Amino acid sequence: MDDADATTERPVRLVVNGREHAIEVEVRTTLLDALRDRLGLTGTKRGCALGQCGACTVLLDGRRVNACLVLAIRAQGRSVTTIEGLGGTGLHPLQAAFVAHDAFQCGYCTPGQIISGVACIA
Ligand code: FES
Repeated sequence: MDDADATTERPVRLVVNGREHAIEVEVRTTLLDALRDRLGLTGTKRGCALGQCGACTVLLDGRRVNACLVLAIRAQGRSVTTIEGLGGTGLHPLQAAFVAHDAFQCGYCTPGQIISGVACIA
């Protein structure tokens, strides 16, 4: 085994908000960490990192998932939607409703709430 074989980094192709990204990630990297740390999409929040709070919720092929519990390599080639891509060029109607009704509270987990709401309505 040479040094190249010893690395646990693997190439992964993520399709996030309709845009393809080719990155290398350590095999244990979560989708949450790939989105935030590698792609700079910090709208998806890290809360508990245990699958309990929902702050990290994104859509994976249209279904809600806790991104802290999904390995980035498991999302390869699948469609990921984050809060940044939810409304296209404007606000999604549920985002607009949150604004209109001042539903943010502290705002930290609002992206996860909105993504979950969109999945629920769908
Ligand atoms: S960060 Fe809490 S469920 Fe993922």
